[in-house]
Amino acid sequence: MSLNLSVVREPAALLPTSFGAYVVESLLGEGTMGCVYQARHQTLGRRVAVKSLHEKLLNDASLVRRFLQEARLVNTINHPHIVEVHDFVEAPGQVYAVMELLEGETLTARLASKALSLAVVVSIATQVAEAIEAAHALSVVHRDLKPDNIFLSQRDGADWVKVLDFGVAKLLVQEGPRVIETQNGDLLGTPRYMAPEQAAGLDVDARTDIYAFGTVLFELLAGKPPFESTVYGQLAADIITRPPPPVPTLTRTGDAVPEGLRRLVTDCLAKNADHRPASMGDVLWRLRHLDEDVAPLAQPPPRRWMVPALVAVVVATLGGAGALLASGPVKAVAPIEAPPPPPPVVVVPPQAPSPPRTVSIVIESAPPGANVVDSTGASLGTTPLTVKRELGAPPLAVRLELKGYEPLSREFGTTESLHVELPLKRLAPLPVKKETRAVSDGVLDPF
Ligand SMILES: Nc1ncnc2c1ncn2[C@@H]1O[C@H](COP(=O)(O)OP(=O)(O)O)[C@@H](O)[C@H]1O
Ligand SMILES: [Mg+2]
Repeated sequence: MSLNLSVVREPAALLPTSFGAYVVESLLGEGTMGCVYQARHQTLGRRVAVKSLHEKLLNDASLVRRFLQEARLVNTINHPHIVEVHDFVEAPGQVYAVMELLEGETLTARLASKALSLAVVVSIATQVAEAIEAAHALSVVHRDLKPDNIFLSQRDGADWVKVLDFGVAKLLVQEGPRVIETQNGDLLGTPRYMAPEQAAGLDVDARTDIYAFGTVLFELLAGKPPFESTVYGQLAADIITRPPPPVPTLTRTGDAVPEGLRRLVTDCLAKNADHRPASMGDVLWRLRHLDEDVAPLAQPPPRRWMVPALVAVVVATLGGAGALLASGPVKAVAPIEAPPPPPPVVVVPPQAPSPPRTVSIVIESAPPGANVVDSTGASLGTTPLTVKRELGAPPLAVRLELKGYEPLSREFGTTESLHVELPLKRLAPLPVKKETRAVSDGVLDPF
């Protein structure tokens, strides 16, 4: 099967003249389920976007229900980075949703016309992640996240993301088809951004969107998606079996891509959903901590860093390097320039013995708030947490515990100060029943 995805193209000559009180002005776009028009309310003058279900699909009751479901889901999520739907109308011969009219362009158009700087990439990715996190919080999986469904308008001179098209979204707790086919067998959806589990016809969950987010992030950096075959079978095989190409080290504008961002893309694109970031919240956390991931703490740190920073000053002056026993995303705290005298560290009485040479182990988790328990079972506090140890003391073994997440055990050496960031893995999501490829699914009513 070749990837001709514009299966419901409506020639401009057949532009409808109106939808209820809305007079059609132009065709804005066309996608898998129908067309989107710019229209104007005939008496109030307000401009809107009208998304209409293609005439050919009106007799397909399950698609009409799905269309209504999209409008409901979007309203339920109600997020500044998700397009707003004002109304849904089912009239004889017409089924349409009235939406806020967006001005700007899709991410597809932007990617085709411009190379994006790192700052723009991170800003767009963060806004998309916020929208999808909000959807996931309500157990809604988008399932068709791709540049064509990411709209960029402008606010205060910067890109403002609106995620579109929850047309094939599903509620995790219910059943629904994963690949939608119309009655004449046309395939709806864009396989290029499919996750391996979708390509293999397996169950989907929130991590399916995390994979799609990874493909979008890859494309934001590289200018093209990780897999591009135009032959469906080959594309599905690539998505399921082939490792993605390396994430670029430079954006197309020449900015260096932070190591943490490259790792995030690779993690999101893991074939096995268990190896992806456990939630969109984790993705967001990592996107927001990219600076810390690549750069030493050069500036006066925010409040919660004050204690480790001060301890780090002590350690930096004492020196010392050592083995790191922990595995995972762990890094040493970079030495911090001592501020001009007097050093704001420890006031030592003249006759007192030398202070013990200490190291600090800064433990962060994503999400924060995990209880950190030592090998005796004693709680050391909750993350973010700074633990001080004497230089060269026995390794510190800890276990992180947070409700709803798998406990995580780690051991840290004490020969140098450390700063560790530990993503916690969410406990197995609600089971999703095996789906069929049939179109006659039940209505996924979020209410
Ligand atoms: N509210 C809107 N304002 C302006 N353009 C829109 C709006 N919604 C959709 N579009 C345009 O129409 C295209 C198809 O819309 P989409 O919601 O993705 O529908 P489909 O389910 O048909 O893919 C989008 O890619 C975008 O170009
Ligand atoms: Mg679309």
